[in-house]
Amino acid sequence: MNRDANKRMNKDIQKIINKQWGKSRDKLIPVLQEVQSHFGFLPRDAMYEVGRQMNIPTSKIHGVITFYRQFRYTPRGKYHIRLCRGTSCHLKKSANLLSWLENHLGIHQGNTDKGGLFSLETVPCMGICGEGPVIAVNEEYYTQTDQKKLQQIMDIYQNLEKDT
Ligand code: FES
Repeated sequence: MNRDANKRMNKDIQKIINKQWGKSRDKLIPVLQEVQSHFGFLPRDAMYEVGRQMNIPTSKIHGVITFYRQFRYTPRGKYHIRLCRGTSCHLKKSANLLSWLENHLGIHQGNTDKGGLFSLETVPCMGICGEGPVIAVNEEYYTQTDQKKLQQIMDIYQNLEKDT
């Protein structure tokens, strides 16, 4: 990040901390939520700056970010995949689907591929348990998913990219 961009980022973070949340340490999570919502993800430099301005050790902030799945260090891909890992979907073998997706995309859940095309996240329940296993790509939902169906879904999005 260049110097000007860095300055701008630091100012934005300062505004979030000062205007909305004050500098109380117990406001760390709402501050991180706001910073992530502002930038679309949590750049590492933003994490350091939040720590500096709130006087909280980086190790503690990193611990919070990695503990809560809502936080991410990388921007989402163009196609953001959410795979349900709730109990009902788990009983219908969603763990196998997660392994398949991680292998297919070459990333672990919580990450984005190098080209910025796909990101993968697991979520606790998507509210349609009877239709599991459930995945969503952006706002498109796919139910009763198995590996064959996953391959077809991936083909759809990979073909869309070939056409552009
Ligand atoms: S457990 Fe998967 S939709 Fe509820």
